[in-house]
Amino acid sequence: MSNTITAAPVRHKNTDTNMFLPKMAKINKVEVFTERETWYEMEYLDKSSLGHTPGQFVEVSVFGVGEAPISISSDPTVEGKFELCIRNAGVVTNKIHQLKAGDTVGIRGPFGTGFDVNKFKGKNVLFVAGGLGLAPLRSLINYVVKTRKEYKDVTLLYGTREPKEILYKKEVEEFEKNKDINFHITVDRGAEGWTKNVGVITTLFPKVKIDDPKNTIVAVCGPPVMYKFVIMEVLAKNIPAENIYISLERRMKCGVGKCGHCQINSVYVCCEGPVFNYAQVRDFKEAI
Ligand SMILES: Cc1cc2nc3c(=O)[nH]c(=O)nc-3n(C[C@H](O)[C@H](O)[C@H](O)COP(=O)(O)OP(=O)(O)OC[C@H]3O[C@@H](n4cnc5c(N)ncnc54)[C@H](O)[C@@H]3O)c2cc1C
Ligand code: FES
Repeated sequence: MSNTITAAPVRHKNTDTNMFLPKMAKINKVEVFTERETWYEMEYLDKSSLGHTPGQFVEVSVFGVGEAPISISSDPTVEGKFELCIRNAGVVTNKIHQLKAGDTVGIRGPFGTGFDVNKFKGKNVLFVAGGLGLAPLRSLINYVVKTRKEYKDVTLLYGTREPKEILYKKEVEEFEKNKDINFHITVDRGAEGWTKNVGVITTLFPKVKIDDPKNTIVAVCGPPVMYKFVIMEVLAKNIPAENIYISLERRMKCGVGKCGHCQINSVYVCCEGPVFNYAQVRDFKEAI
């Protein structure tokens, strides 16, 4: 077993700028999604583009309070604006939830590795999103939907604990109507009026037909408990470990490989991740 990850880390894309210096961004729009999650559209005050790859994250600063790493959830081809979906989880995120359209925050990034979209082209694509995991995956999902002709079958599995926790409700309705993708949704616990699947996300796998497993690429993002069971289902469909990409969250501070908060053995998740190829991390005890 090797502890070395061979993929080149993307330490900092904008090498001409100071990676410790937040750049000011204005909140354009705010939409409350659920009791815990709120969506934000932002833009840099200097109108420049974020220039991200799906799967990357930014450090959001509320001055005088702190910073939080947040995944970029918007389509990377949209210039000038970017979107974040933020759960109220503690000090910084609570403060962000008090902000309104017109308020400003500091942004550092984009940081980390993203999904290599070229690896998905010409393949069947299977997305598995659990809970807030839809936010990091959405950037890639929207990109794939926009460039749909470049892929074979596209399947999206999405699970939340309850119907009231479904994020991006309008888009989820669009996914349901979109005949170009196979969309399946589930909730752990049903509620009045819920007529779709009830059960954890792995209960959706019997609905997934994979004709050519070796030619299928999988992207998974969700709560830590989900990975082990989802990966078992994916491997049971004969999809090779090398074709599975996972986005791992770890406690992060600097986001740029300096503080060690995100470290798993010799790996700095903020730089070499958060997106990893499963074959490269399956032997890291703490990773999954
Ligand atoms: C790469 C990456 C991408 C992320 N993307 C998103 C996103 O798109 N949307 C979103 O809402 N959140 C995302 N998160 C999680 C988010 O960064 C944390 O919820 C946030 O930093 C909490 O900060 P806080 O000051 O609000 O909470 P704190 O006051 O610091 O902590 C509140 C509680 O949450 C725990 N906690 C804090 N951070 C984490 C963490 N990373 N993992 C597990 N427990 C934690 C603390 O131990 C504490 O119990 C992401 C995290 C990472 C590392
Ligand atoms: S968050 Fe500081 S090293 Fe990764």
